[in-house]
Amino acid sequence: MQNTVEHRCDLLVIGSGAAGLSLALKMADHCNVIVLSKSDLNEGSTRYAQGGIAAVFDDDDSIQSHVEDTLAAGAGICDENVVRFAAENAKASMQWLISRGVPFDQEKDQDGNLRFHLTREGGHSHRRILHAADATGEAVQSTLAENVAQHPSIHLFERYNAIDLIKQNKTDKKCIGAYVWNRKKEQVEIIRSRFITLATGGASKVYQYTSNPDVSSGDGIAMAWRAGCDIANMEFNQFHPTCLFHPDAGNFLITEALRGEGAFLCHPDGTPFMHKFDERGDLAPRDVVARAIDFEMKRLGEDCMYLDISHKPSDFIVKHFPNIYRKCRSLGIDITRQPIPVVPAAHYSCGGVVTDLDARTTLDNVYAIGEVAYTGLHGANRMASNSLLECVVFAHACAKHILANFDQDHSRCDIRPWDESRVIDSDEAVIIQHNWHELRLFMWDFVGIVRTNKRLERAMRRINLLKQEIDEYYSNFKVSNNMLELRNLLCIAQLIVACAMERKESRGLHYNLDYPDLLEKSGPTIIRKSTFKKSAEL
Ligand code: FAD
Ligand code: SIN
Repeated sequence: MQNTVEHRCDLLVIGSGAAGLSLALKMADHCNVIVLSKSDLNEGSTRYAQGGIAAVFDDDDSIQSHVEDTLAAGAGICDENVVRFAAENAKASMQWLISRGVPFDQEKDQDGNLRFHLTREGGHSHRRILHAADATGEAVQSTLAENVAQHPSIHLFERYNAIDLIKQNKTDKKCIGAYVWNRKKEQVEIIRSRFITLATGGASKVYQYTSNPDVSSGDGIAMAWRAGCDIANMEFNQFHPTCLFHPDAGNFLITEALRGEGAFLCHPDGTPFMHKFDERGDLAPRDVVARAIDFEMKRLGEDCMYLDISHKPSDFIVKHFPNIYRKCRSLGIDITRQPIPVVPAAHYSCGGVVTDLDARTTLDNVYAIGEVAYTGLHGANRMASNSLLECVVFAHACAKHILANFDQDHSRCDIRPWDESRVIDSDEAVIIQHNWHELRLFMWDFVGIVRTNKRLERAMRRINLLKQEIDEYYSNFKVSNNMLELRNLLCIAQLIVACAMERKESRGLHYNLDYPDLLEKSGPTIIRKSTFKKSAEL
């Protein structure tokens, strides 16, 4: 067995989006931090965020109102303590981002004083979204990345995939590091760390159509599950109602802020329809709007619906939505004159690794922050712009907890070297490609916006077959990015379907035609390894 290259740090942060970089910056004055990024440092959902970040900044708004809106969007199963914690810490978290240099849009009030421009999105009863035009994520990501690059205690490991967390033995509640795959050298290495934080983002890539970048393959959730962490609410995958429908568009989102500023959804002939589905019309929460679009597309046999903002003045549209204007224009759509073709696509994982108010998972020195985590904030449906907020609020909570417990030291334990003595290079990459496409397609068809028991059972049978195949493949062949991601996506798919099967009702983002009603009493779906087998084997 060859020696495995080993690195050491106090804190290993796996993921370099808003959550991971905020935590690294909070910790770097106190200890040595390694930040791992599977692709380029800035590649992740954060960079693509458009609408903005929710926080109470207006005198007419209140924390209570932010709490109530979040609870209403979450369809009855948010954890109210967590919602209040996030809403109360929102302003301070945004002020921290501003102090780091994030350029949120400002405007002059009636007295000529500068204040932040606040926009509106679905589910919010007030204007409370801080934003940088329609490219808020780019502003946040690039600002944090610039800060991180200047800090001598932060070591950036780009193009490194975390494979698995390392424990001394299976029953241990502590992790001592992680096996990681150095993509440039194509070798597995070890990072030994006193504390580990998962900040790997969401899992929407498990679906055929998604607004997410390629890195969103649920790696952190899958790793945490394999290491024994509790996972919750995986059935609640949010479908964003309005992604651009065009063969050359890629995964391009049309922000909900357009509807916040007056855009409306309509049929191909221009007839508005949202008022038929919800009294809040175009600003109903996302689950309602996505289902309405899906329903109208199927009813009318159309490939897409349309979003129209062309009744607003052109200069207003171009000023507020410069990126969307440019992108659509490059595809021959002038949004100041024409409606935009849109379809729903998988957008956000409301479920994930169960954490508490300190961002702690069910393992002692492992934390999870950002989209990878289930904190209880989003319940059955995340309200727009609460996600970047959660990244920053819980990065701060995590830093605080680690600093208060800094005396733990696991650095003396032995770590088993990575054993590649029995694996060979694969000459069957086609299997990975094929299984990858198959998985994402049946997840879209059977476990998408509308589900049934039969579809879920059918999906689980296929997942179990593919899982067997890929587990065998994993033991026999050298690792590759596609293989690692497929292994994780299969785990994610299994967790989503298992959670969906446990929920015998329709609530928020989970809609099952066999159980169309709400149960009177309900809560989160929490799954543990010890009780999992029964529900997963069909
Ligand atoms: P990400 O930003 O996704 O970062 C994940 C990081 O983990 C990446 O660096 C990735 O390389 C790394 N990683 C993953 N797996 C591994 C691995 N195995 N090893 C090493 N590294 C790994 N939310 C809002 O609040 N407001 C918005 O306006 C908004 N708009 C959005 C628009 C779009 C198009 C999308 C896709 C999402 C939007 N969201 C929005 C949601 C929000 O952007 C994300 O939930 C949030 O950015 C997640 O941040 P994160 O730090 O948890 O993860
Ligand atoms: C959007 O801008 O519509 C996305 C906002 C979000 O996902 O919170």
